[in-house]
Amino acid sequence: MYDKSAFVIKENPIILGMESSCDETACAVLSGRKILSSRIISSAAEQAKYGGVVPEIASRMHTEAVDEVCRLALADAGLKPSDIDCVAATYGAGLLGALLVGLSFSKALAYSLNVPFIAVNHIRGHISAAYLDKPDLKPPFITLLASGGHTAILYTSSFTKFEVLAATSDDAAGEAFDKCARVLGLPYPGGPSVQKLAEGGAPTVKFPSALVKNSASLRFSYSGLKTAVINYCHNAEQRGEQLNAADVAASFQCAAIDPLVKKTVELARRYNVKTVTAGGGVIANEYLRRTLSAACRRAGLALVLPEKKYCTDNAAMIASEGLNQYMAGNFSDLDINAAAAIPL
Ligand code: KG4
Ligand code: ZN
Repeated sequence: MYDKSAFVIKENPIILGMESSCDETACAVLSGRKILSSRIISSAAEQAKYGGVVPEIASRMHTEAVDEVCRLALADAGLKPSDIDCVAATYGAGLLGALLVGLSFSKALAYSLNVPFIAVNHIRGHISAAYLDKPDLKPPFITLLASGGHTAILYTSSFTKFEVLAATSDDAAGEAFDKCARVLGLPYPGGPSVQKLAEGGAPTVKFPSALVKNSASLRFSYSGLKTAVINYCHNAEQRGEQLNAADVAASFQCAAIDPLVKKTVELARRYNVKTVTAGGGVIANEYLRRTLSAACRRAGLALVLPEKKYCTDNAAMIASEGLNQYMAGNFSDLDINAAAAIPL
């Protein structure tokens, strides 16, 4: 019988992490914060045929991949199932059918091994990617979070507590990158395509900044920027003008990223922290990495920037957040369900 009150907390546990919230079936094994293996089986190439993620295809491909990705991660780590001390899996937010595959598999694995199960909030996973980069990282710190579903600046006060200081009031930054790519006729996923095109352009077009001005609280908005890019491209087409797509991409990239970098540094100063971290797919963007590094250097702040492969969806970050909860004794019940939307 699974009795979560009966488990003892080990010093450097072997944690198996599982992630299946969108189009990546990922499994990783950590020993404490040390990454022993991290595997991803992605359905992105299949999804690209449809220009975005088709939930039904994602669920089916997770079902086909979940067992395999777990075997591969354990084999890479040179471990067997009985070596696992804890299983952590994403339970939300994400596509319900996709989440259910990884979550059900992981709950069954924890039950069969009689080890603690930890249900992980995907966004907390993105924040915890920073601990993989710097295993001795300790709160407090400020985090810039930018993914396909969320854009926020957070104050992390302890290994298990954070506060949202600023967030988007509508679309996420990643979503805007994906829409910008689509209107420019670039392939899915949009972020890397826009980045590549922007490298050959200059920010000559004045698009509205993603920062909401004249607001009582600090807020971002990406829907206005997205619409401005769409209108700019359509107007040029209607007038029969040749569009400099590289300049549009570079201009969009600056409007989307500059305010995030600026406000992250400002908040780090205001909250008197010495360290800034970052997480989420958009943090893989080279322009963001460059400008955030330079801004932190100028402000005398230490920056913990996870490797690009740990910014986009992966299971090592889920295991890393699992470790935070494990050390706090926050084990989950096995009747926990998947949730498409959960608050930050
Ligand atoms: O964190 P993530 O992998 O999944 C979610 O949790 O949403 O983020 C995916 C988002 C997509 O919108 C994708 O276009 C964006 O991250 N992204 C990028 C880059 N790589 C991925 N955006 C800008 N530049 C990139 N290099
Ligand atoms: Zn994500």
